[in-house]
Amino acid sequence: MSQSTLILECTEADLRKAGELIRAGQLVVFPTETVYGLGANALDPQACRKIFQAKGRPVDNPLIVHLSSLEEIPAYTQKVTDIHRKLMERCMPGPITFVLPKVPEIPDIVTAGLSTVAIRIPSLEEARRLISYAGVPIAAPSANLSGEPSPTTFEMAYHAMAGRVAAIVKGRMCEVGLESSVIRIDKNRLELLRPGYVTFETLLELGKEFGLDVIDLSQVSQEKPLSPGTKYTHYKPKASVYLFSSLEDILNPLITIPSSTRILCTKQSGSKETFDKIVALNIETVVFENTQDYARHLFFQFHRADREGINTVLAFYPPPEGIGLALRNRLIKASGGRFV
Ligand code: TXA
Ligand code: MG
Repeated sequence: MSQSTLILECTEADLRKAGELIRAGQLVVFPTETVYGLGANALDPQACRKIFQAKGRPVDNPLIVHLSSLEEIPAYTQKVTDIHRKLMERCMPGPITFVLPKVPEIPDIVTAGLSTVAIRIPSLEEARRLISYAGVPIAAPSANLSGEPSPTTFEMAYHAMAGRVAAIVKGRMCEVGLESSVIRIDKNRLELLRPGYVTFETLLELGKEFGLDVIDLSQVSQEKPLSPGTKYTHYKPKASVYLFSSLEDILNPLITIPSSTRILCTKQSGSKETFDKIVALNIETVVFENTQDYARHLFFQFHRADREGINTVLAFYPPPEGIGLALRNRLIKASGGRFV
């Protein structure tokens, strides 16, 4: 079903218009600091159902509810402890999502029937202004079709969602480029459910400060799968993605590099000699300054590869430090865990 999609700017008048559309039960795509979101009134089950239809998303995958300020959190959550409050004050607004017991006003469709709700306050000011104009919490997954890379530019969001939503708010390229870190606190344990921009190291420091053990529950799906299968694929471009831990791996004479291949790597992916040898092979190579820059541009590069008809992407699998952990998580899913 195709509908005409309004393109809105980040002006006050347009953000107000976007807020009105949300309140009226329509879908609106909007920028955040992480990725573009596909938003609907989180209190309106009919509106939220449209999110799943527009994305082709399985209904057993719950949505994140976006709020504009910390003061709104008690209205939608329960059992918020002192520790929760202190951690939230420290980390929010920002690229982090807290999972908490929900109130009955949050419909089951939003939480996929779970008794908990995921809450996030974006640090991008335009996103928070939109939420306050809407006057309701906004349920929003990433604005991609299910399984595809999340949009980090207006063009990507337009490509995925034009004709499927009432409006798209045009913002800049997302600063972070990967989705938020999803966490939960269980008694004295802080659990990382999805790695994101707020790193495990930062969580460890916060844990030390607030007397919490910090554990990474996302590691379960982070392992190099023994039998890589499509059930792991997500964030996936049309091109086949293969990972490598060092540029040296690509120089292995036993490997045939298909034509129409692009390499994504950082300056830390190999020695100067290796880079010279790669140049001699004449494979198109995108070299990022560091892991952070790589993380910011990964989804955009996947999109660009598809637009340019690239068949194979060879992507550097970075060390797990800092944002590297989140990047590895997305790369494993995009590649199905396949290494060169
Ligand atoms: O950065 C982000 O988080 C972006 C922007 C738009 O805010 N949103 C995003 O949403 O990435 P989505 O739907 O693509 O991912 C939501 C994640 C999923 O992994 C989902 O399973 C998890 O949050 N989630 C949502 N509600 C949950 C809950 N009640 N318990 C555990 N995990 C939950
Ligand atoms: Mg997503």
